[in-house]
Amino acid sequence: MRTARTKDELRRRLEAWRREGARIGFVPTMGALHEGHLSLVRLARERADRVVASVFVNPTQFGPHEDFGRYPRQPEKDATMLEAAGCDLLFLPGVDTIYPPGNATFVEPAGAALGLEGACRPGHFRGVATVVLALFNLVQADVAVFGEKDAQQVAVIRQMVRDLHLPVEIVPAPTIREADGLALSSRNAYLSPQERQAATVLYRALRAAAELITAGVGERRGDEVRRCLREVLASEPLAQVEYAEIVDAETFAPVDALQGKLVLPLAVRIGGTRLLDNIRLAVEDVAAGG
Ligand code: PAF
Repeated sequence: MRTARTKDELRRRLEAWRREGARIGFVPTMGALHEGHLSLVRLARERADRVVASVFVNPTQFGPHEDFGRYPRQPEKDATMLEAAGCDLLFLPGVDTIYPPGNATFVEPAGAALGLEGACRPGHFRGVATVVLALFNLVQADVAVFGEKDAQQVAVIRQMVRDLHLPVEIVPAPTIREADGLALSSRNAYLSPQERQAATVLYRALRAAAELITAGVGERRGDEVRRCLREVLASEPLAQVEYAEIVDAETFAPVDALQGKLVLPLAVRIGGTRLLDNIRLAVEDVAAGG
């Protein structure tokens, strides 16, 4: 695996591969890699001839009181893991490479970016959309893979790709979980042993809500699903809920009567650590589904 730190190094390597007619796959990350990221690299490998992964802790997607300063950074370990997973090129840019001095242009996503994470973390998706567009322009990949654990992020990026006619295919990759259901996340490293145990409540809440919808009476009222999520989350004293929703999978607007492709997204603080999780499900037309 090669490493490129500058635009020129990246361009030279990509040009050589394009001359060979290679299809390029791309996995953008903020590093502190775990098995979830590596599954994205493996999926990119299946879809492309060459795989590029970026590691860049993007300052513009963190709020002023968030964890940008203490976000885990381990570039050497990340490089070893990426190589073992089949990555061909690691792009490791500095802040000045992504944001040239004096930069003053941002992407301002609305639509799917407005609620939930967009409401709790003002400016977050502006930072995500801006860095992802900059990375897409630098790498010019044919296909880019994003984890479904950040389901709203995937919806915002799909929306940007559609709205700005970007020539890249977006492939979502399933969430990877620990044996007890906790979704893998770089921020799990912040949890104490007691908090790690408490964090299992997120997946338990999602499973209970999914069960309510898919089994028994087949609940179709959005408010009942929200009530179920909050009831399970309330059973864990360390959990503080920021949101527990049921939304349309494309627009991320809350739904009242369940129908079509849906996402149940959660943001929950366990101690000082903010965790996200979600599940997706599809509900057929009530009349047709019985
Ligand atoms: O999901 C992430 O790790 C980040 O939001 C991304 C997509 C790499 C942009 O910084």
